[in-house]
Amino acid sequence: MLPIVAIGHPTLKKKAAQIGPDYPDLKDLIDKMFETMYESKGVGLAAPQVNKSIRLFIVDARPYADDFPEAKEFVKIFINPYILNESGEEWMFNEGCLSVPGINEDVSRFSDVEIEYMDENFQSYKETYKGIIGRIIQHEYDHLEGTLFVDRLSPLKKALIRGKLNKISKGEVDITYRMIFPNKK
Ligand code: CO
Repeated sequence: MLPIVAIGHPTLKKKAAQIGPDYPDLKDLIDKMFETMYESKGVGLAAPQVNKSIRLFIVDARPYADDFPEAKEFVKIFINPYILNESGEEWMFNEGCLSVPGINEDVSRFSDVEIEYMDENFQSYKETYKGIIGRIIQHEYDHLEGTLFVDRLSPLKKALIRGKLNKISKGEVDITYRMIFPNKK
């Protein structure tokens, strides 16, 4: 699997770049991202998390199928996505992130997300996703904009976990998958 970069790594803070069909070894990268996501038990993975600052993320929501019917059989690749609109009620959900291991916090997001994106053959689509699918897409899309879910917490909440976040960036955390820690001594 590919190593996942931890919070504090500069690639996680960058706005990712669009890609074209000429992007080298794209299919291979996507395959490796799926392997990496499954190995680390994630439901989504964005390219910046494997240190590629490009507009690509993948989702496999099936682990949520028992609680969210829309997650049944939902596996998808999003290339050059662009969120057109977020709407509906805001709702809280306990999120985690492979780049922030051991941290889970409630995050508020809009229920519906309208998104334009391309598949791995660079065919364009425009869809609206709701529920847990909308949630995962918003989380992964944030990675392409240089935002982590912990950046969406209140300043107080974030201050409370700052010490833990600093430890993660130094590699002082138990993990079960390969990671790159930006501040490891
Ligand atoms: Co994440």
